[in-house]
Amino acid sequence: MQNTDDIFEEIVVAPDERLKTECAPIEEITPEVRELAERMLRDMYATEGCGLAAPQVGELVQMVVIDVDYTDKKRNPYVLINPEIVVADGEEREFPEGCLSFPGITVRVTRPTHVIVRARNLDGDLMQYEAENNLMAVCLQHEIDHLHGITMVDHLRPLKRAAKMHEYQDALAAGAKPGETDFE
Ligand code: NI
Repeated sequence: MQNTDDIFEEIVVAPDERLKTECAPIEEITPEVRELAERMLRDMYATEGCGLAAPQVGELVQMVVIDVDYTDKKRNPYVLINPEIVVADGEEREFPEGCLSFPGITVRVTRPTHVIVRARNLDGDLMQYEAENNLMAVCLQHEIDHLHGITMVDHLRPLKRAAKMHEYQDALAAGAKPGETDFE
């Protein structure tokens, strides 16, 4: 087990071109792909995040890991390979989001409340996930955005975005670490 400082080192934080890049689909589930999934899950749990996308550890491929309701004793990890949002509808709702790549800030993002996502799992099976009006619905959209070079601040109007980026720079300067939100 690496210590937490090494994991913080591994997380790509904004601004970074890798967070603005369209990621490549995964053609084949190789041992390297499985290792990447393990590494991402380890980093997500270590930083107490509920999701992590491959570009956030510097790998520009279409993989996300999600676990929205784990405890020390019970984990329920999902690994989504080449995920695709096939339905995003329902009433739009604003929800406070954090991101390991933006230490120290929380951003209120408005998104559709109902999504259906198709993705391969690590066995190569095509899976379908549906979530409505919950953290999973938010998390799926947030993480899949990362695979297309989109981060939570990109959903804000220009003035709000500028203010949030200012707040973010202050938090970084004050030493905020991945996994911390509303840093003071
Ligand atoms: Ni994120």
